[in-house]
Amino acid sequence: MSFPIEKFRSLRTPFYYYDTVLLDETLEAIKRELRPNQHVHYAVKACTTPKVLHHITQAGLGADCVSGGEIQACLDAGFPAHRIVYAGVGKSDWEIELGLKAGIFCFNVESIPELEVINELARKLGKTAQVAFRINPNVGAHTHDNITTGLAENKFGIAMEDMVDVVMKTREMTNVECIGLHFHIGSQILEMDDFATLSLRINELQETLESYGIVLPHINVGGGLGIDYKQPDEHPIPDFKAYFSTFNQYLQLRKGQQLHFELGRSIVGQCGSLISRVLYIKQGAVKKFVIIDAGMTDLIRPALYDAYHKVENLTSQEGKECYDVVGPICESSDVFVKNYTLPVTHRGDLVALRSAGAYGEIMASGYNCRPLPKGYTNEDF
Ligand code: LLP
Repeated sequence: MSFPIEKFRSLRTPFYYYDTVLLDETLEAIKRELRPNQHVHYAVKACTTPKVLHHITQAGLGADCVSGGEIQACLDAGFPAHRIVYAGVGKSDWEIELGLKAGIFCFNVESIPELEVINELARKLGKTAQVAFRINPNVGAHTHDNITTGLAENKFGIAMEDMVDVVMKTREMTNVECIGLHFHIGSQILEMDDFATLSLRINELQETLESYGIVLPHINVGGGLGIDYKQPDEHPIPDFKAYFSTFNQYLQLRKGQQLHFELGRSIVGQCGSLISRVLYIKQGAVKKFVIIDAGMTDLIRPALYDAYHKVENLTSQEGKECYDVVGPICESSDVFVKNYTLPVTHRGDLVALRSAGAYGEIMASGYNCRPLPKGYTNEDF
């Protein structure tokens, strides 16, 4: 990826930089693979920077939201309500009401108590809510424990054994209509076998439902496709062909059934970088530190998930030296990379923490009273 380094020099760091050319190419790569009965709802939780959302709405994708705030951000960004799905284990009444009033496509429901509340709130508003049940398929994903969601022990979804009862229950309710099943097994998944296993589990569940005479028009397989954090320049666009063809091969849809995806990271991950300035080079007792002005408050993934983001010195190419790259926050977990080879680095150099477009800016916090990082795109310069 090339960066407008001269433009960066005058900006206050740290900030996020999004390459919308790569974003558009990524969106095109997805659209090339989609069949007419397949729909992608961008998982907005990955990044809600308005300029990024704008490109995604322009590409015609829907949105997958997990809060009232996200629903509002999507409506403001121009996503049509009929392409918005709304998931989450703990939906507040005002959030449900916002979704009902806007007329969103579907509530992905995670429990019976939640279903009852949606039914009641919809009744009061004189509406019928379309719902899909998030089923916990007890399928593991080969990823970090903190981002695995589809195991029986996780808090997400309705147990498979309860699926038929729950679907039957909606039939007695006046203001909800069950239109589908929803799944999501985890995030940063790179083994297509995990999606194949999910597909086979969905086939079993569909057969069970069919034995009760139930066929639902929509299947939503969630998101989770990973990106190459190690080699972002070699693999700037994820292998969407392999991803979609896994579902095409293993998932048996019924006639007329629509298939929905909720991709987040794979859409925006590679187009974003966190740009930071080197404050000090510090020789410690046993290590040399590059202290940058971005910290875990700006990009929490390394501290929270041991995640790796490639660090690139944008302004020095000379020589080689081994460093720990750390932030200014008063926490020992405020470390980006350890024992890392960079060109010889100096105060004032600009560095990019790559592949930070997803779950980067949006997870920033104001801890230590730090200002939130701004988000720029190539179109701003
Ligand atoms: N659908 C549901 C129901 C989800 O919970 C998620 C992500 C997605 C879709 C999108 O998944 P993706 O395609 O982005 O993998 N903060 C963590 C990731 C948390 C993901 C939570 N759910 C990280 O920085 O790695």
